[in-house]
Amino acid sequence: MLTALTASVVTLLCTANGAASRDLTFISDWGENPSGLEMRAYFPDPLPESPDVILALHACSLSGIQYEEENNYTVYADETGFIALFPSTLNQGNCWDVANPDSLTCGSGGSGSAGLINMIQWSISEYNADPARIFFTGSSSGCMMTNVMCGKYPDVFAAASRYSGFPAGCLAGAAGSSPGTADPACALGEARSSEEWAQAVWGMYPGYNGTYPRTMIWHGTADEMVLYPNLAETLKQWSTVFDVPFTKNVTDDPYPGYTKMLYGDGTQLLGYSAEGVGHMSLQMWNRS
Ligand SMILES: *[C@@H]1O[C@H](CO)[C@@H](O)[C@H](O)[C@H]1NC(C)=O
Ligand SMILES: *[C@@H]1O[C@H](CO)[C@@H](O)[C@H](O)[C@H]1NC(C)=O
Ligand SMILES: *[C@@H]1O[C@H](CO)[C@@H](O)[C@H](O)[C@H]1NC(C)=O
Repeated sequence: MLTALTASVVTLLCTANGAASRDLTFISDWGENPSGLEMRAYFPDPLPESPDVILALHACSLSGIQYEEENNYTVYADETGFIALFPSTLNQGNCWDVANPDSLTCGSGGSGSAGLINMIQWSISEYNADPARIFFTGSSSGCMMTNVMCGKYPDVFAAASRYSGFPAGCLAGAAGSSPGTADPACALGEARSSEEWAQAVWGMYPGYNGTYPRTMIWHGTADEMVLYPNLAETLKQWSTVFDVPFTKNVTDDPYPGYTKMLYGDGTQLLGYSAEGVGHMSLQMWNRS
């Protein structure tokens, strides 16, 4: 029922947006792909000599094609010259695997995160993408997977923005990652200590001592699928990982009713609280 709801919300948003759809290229062979992901790519015209890359992850029950239709990343790709990758996961109600220990732990082979990281390697080896300018984004289940990727491959990504999800590792060891199989506690905004959340990230890459990708976390107060308290939980997690405390709020930024929450000087971690906004708002993800 939750899944059907997501699909209908998204359809409405699509219609409202008028869809910025561009031609995507289906890529069949980009390296080891243990969980059978699909990949579609958008190449900007003109293609820079050493382009940036953004990997954009859809929500449950959707696909990379649909995600492209809902956001404006291909428009921005032409404007600023980055390659946009739109993977699709075909398992577990099209949800990203944020539960299987293989997907969550560095050095283990299987599952979704391995296929995703190989897409990045492919863009570097085939298109001379700039390894210092690889970006990640996702909504809902894609947001949860973005949190995981930032914990597991912190040295791969320069920055990541995410929308309407919950903290990295919340579903670790759960029976599945879809609304039907996951422990509902995470979507309801399960509270854990800052230290526990940070350990969930550190445990994905034990011994890592470098920097983590710059992070923006967006959530609507009226989200009824992945509840709003998840914003505070996810900010607790990354604030501890980065070791940057909350400094101040900036109200009505970038819109009336939005609050930008600065951590430290705001260069590593920002939260965005969107008053009255529901699950996976287009307005949120086209603005960051
Ligand atoms: C970080 O880890 C690397 C590799 O294990 C090590 O060479 C380096 O000295 C460490 N740096 C710090 C600041 O601990
Ligand atoms: C900052 O904004 C958030 C979101 O509106 C709110 O929950 C929090 O209480 C605010 N903190 C302060 C110190 O005003
Ligand atoms: C998305 O791009 C279209 C043009 O293709 C533009 O009309 C629309 O305003 C953009 N939406 C956002 C939220 O930036």
